[in-house]
Amino acid sequence: MSAPLIVLVGPMGSGKSTVGELLAHRLGVAFRDTDADIVAAQGREISDIFVEDGEDHFRDLERAAVRSAVAEHTGVLALGGGAILDGGTRELLTGLPVAYLSMDVEEAVKRVGLNTARPLLAVNPRRQWRELMDARRPLYTEVARVVVATDDRTPEEVAQAVLDALELKDA
Ligand code: S3P
Repeated sequence: MSAPLIVLVGPMGSGKSTVGELLAHRLGVAFRDTDADIVAAQGREISDIFVEDGEDHFRDLERAAVRSAVAEHTGVLALGGGAILDGGTRELLTGLPVAYLSMDVEEAVKRVGLNTARPLLAVNPRRQWRELMDARRPLYTEVARVVVATDDRTPEEVAQAVLDALELKDA
């Protein structure tokens, strides 16, 4: 059975795409991102899907995107920050080499607090973040094989830490 070499989960802004690209380059494999898959399939931005059809519909699209990606992709795969909220999506990750990129609240506010393209943090970012992470932290931990802290680390350092934690070597 084919499966991704690494699956990255973690909150928005934790560096899943940047670190994922670096990891793919180092391992000599392709990078794939389910957010990008959804945007390409839908022909509209994720913020528009949230506004037009609601979060539940987005999570359905996301579960389908994760299902296809884990079945087809053998490189590095990054999931959207909220993908783990869906029980069906979490099930799809069972047994896979999932790395959770964690980040503390101050780092999060610094990185994504004022980014309006991220609809979940538009108002009162610090409190929103705490609430969001209280709900999500146990779910990230549940699906993760390894947890890698990203605070005060460069993307290169995080990528190295992921390789070390999963005991993977460069191509
Ligand atoms: C979301 C995170 C986003 C995107 C959508 C919802 C979330 O992905 O899937 O805006 O619920 O945390 P990134 O983590 O890639 O920003």
